[in-house]
Parts: sequence; C-alpha cells; structure tokens
Amino acid sequence: MSTAAADRLTFRSPDDWHVHLRDGDTLALVAGQTARQFSRAIVMPNLAPPVTTVAMARAYRERILASIPAERAFTPLMTAYLTDHIDAGEVARGHAEGVFTACKLYPAGATTNAAAGVTNVRHIDGVLERMQAIGMPLLVHGEVVDGDIDVFDREAVFIERILAPMLQRFPELKVVLEHITTREAVDFVREAGAGVAATITAHHLVFNRNAMFMGGIRPHFYCLPVAKREHHRRALRAAATSGNPKFFLGTDSAPHALADKESACGCAGIFSAPVALESYAATFEEEQALDRLEGFASVFGPRFYGLPLNEGTVTLIRRPNVVPEVVASGSLRIRPFHAGETLAWTFEERD
Ligand code: DOR
Ligand code: ZN
Repeated sequence: MSTAAADRLTFRSPDDWHVHLRDGDTLALVAGQTARQFSRAIVMPNLAPPVTTVAMARAYRERILASIPAERAFTPLMTAYLTDHIDAGEVARGHAEGVFTACKLYPAGATTNAAAGVTNVRHIDGVLERMQAIGMPLLVHGEVVDGDIDVFDREAVFIERILAPMLQRFPELKVVLEHITTREAVDFVREAGAGVAATITAHHLVFNRNAMFMGGIRPHFYCLPVAKREHHRRALRAAATSGNPKFFLGTDSAPHALADKESACGCAGIFSAPVALESYAATFEEEQALDRLEGFASVFGPRFYGLPLNEGTVTLIRRPNVVPEVVASGSLRIRPFHAGETLAWTFEERD
C-alpha cells in the first residue's frame, strides 16, 4: 500500500503504459530516464522504418536494454506497428513468443512516423479478429485525419466513426484508447465494456490548449492529440483521480530535438519522462487524491494487461525540484516537460 506522510510518498513501483524511446542517440539519452522511474514500459513502434516484424522488435528490445545500466531492472514491452498489409500470423507469433505485448494502430498520417499506418481500419479486420481470439491488446491512436474535420474534433469523431463500430465488430477485443484528451473519450471508455481502457498523459492533465498560444506560438506545448478546452482537461483530471481502473498511466513521453520543436513546422511531442511521476503527483495532490496515485500508476495497468504487479517501490520526497531547461548529450538537446519550473515533489528512488 502507498504511504503518504506530509513530506514523503512511497508506493508500489509503477509502469509507463505508453512511451516513445526512439533509437540511436536519442534512445541513449532518454531510455534511462524512463527506466529510472518505471519498472516496465510499453514502447511505441513508430520508428523509421516502423517496427512491423518479430525480428525488428527483438532487435529493438536488445538496443533498448543495451542503453540502460545493467543494474537497473527494467522491462521494455514491445508493440507491433499495424499497417494495411501486416500479416496476422506474424503478429500472433510475436505475441506467442513473448515479443509483442500489443499492437499499435496509427491511422495513416496521424502523427510522427505514422505515414505507414492504416489507411482504412477495415483493412486490418483479419488482424483484429486474430488479436481478439488470442487476447492481444490493441492500442489506439484515436484520431481521424480527414482534412474536413477540425483538428480539435479528431478524437471525438474517431470514437464515433471508427472505434465504436470496430467494437461492434469485435466486442471481445481488448482496446486501450491512448492519451485521451476529451470528455467524449472519458465517457466512452467509462461506459464501454471491461475490455476497453485508456491511458492519460501527465501533460494533458496540466494544461489546456491556451498553453500553445500564451503571448506567442509555443511549440513545446504542441503534442498529438493536441490539448483541448479546459472542460476536457477537467474531465481527464476527474477520470485519472477517480479510482476507476479503466484509466491508467501512460506518459506518451515523446522526445524531439530542440531544433525540431522550435521550427516553422515543429514536431508533436512532449518529453515528460524526466519528471513524469513528479508531474502526476502534483496533479493528484491538487485534486486531493494522492492516495489514488498508486492505483493509477502501478495497479490498474498491469491488471488490464494481465501482468503481475511490480514488487518494489518508488519514493518521492517533498523537496523543491528545479526542472532543467534542457536535457543534453553531445549536440543532442531536448527540452523536458516543466522546463524551468520548480515542482513540489522530487523523485528519490526506485528499488
Ligand atoms: O505528441 C505526440 N508525439 N503524439 C504522438 O502521437 C506521437 C508522438 C511522437 O512519436 O512524436
Ligand atoms: Zn505516443
């Protein structure tokens, strides 16, 4: 059980159910940040080229493990990137061999490295049928990309046009609606069957869409799905802190080099891994729900995925935490979430 003294918060070791670890130099810089705070993480497959085969996922898992200090116990949980032509047999074999924990559905063009994603979800009905049969979760980037749909409506329209009919076709399919941003998503997940859950990022709990336009254009608050109106943020905060096991932690930590964010066509993504637990703790404390952080961060996710709970604990201390302006290695510079702010909690240790 979690213990919360005034100045110390200790609870069961958490997992991050949605993270981008990238590859190469970026992987080397960011993987340790996630492994510091989390015991396991669902690693997104949107590399270039995307992770579409068992062999690619095995090799990527090795590169991730090689970039983390040997003494650090951390398990990367791999995902398969669904394309129009991916083979159901390859997906099922990866699952059976303990390589693919889940599959990720990116609508083609929805976000970073999603060009090879699915152009029409009916193209993967055969894969979804197989996943339903073997109990393999589908992780969904829930946005339509039609040019006539307002960017702020993409999630709500996806739920209505794509997700709801998909669940009618595959009522037993386990689905995680990732990084939800709207009241519509909260309501849909809450009212759906037990096989439907959602992750909620730290950043969508902290700011609304105004953050992107505070006195000028602010690329470090741009992510996808894009932040929505304040009433949506409030719905997300209520869901995350409700104790409802359908809502659990997924940071969507998505590092991009500073120059790729501060650009005429800036990349979407917020690098929250360095301060993920401190940020969630701030939100839960503001909502007077610190006693519910452990369920959200450490219990509901593994229960949904059918995995054991972690054995160890993490501890946060109430001590001013000045977040650096930039995390760097060599010429690679990445701005973390909350850069330049002072947070109330400081991550102390994970054992
Ligand atoms: O903000 C985002 N960044 N959202 C996504 O869906 C993808 C991610 C990335 O990979 O950069
Ligand atoms: Zn993501």
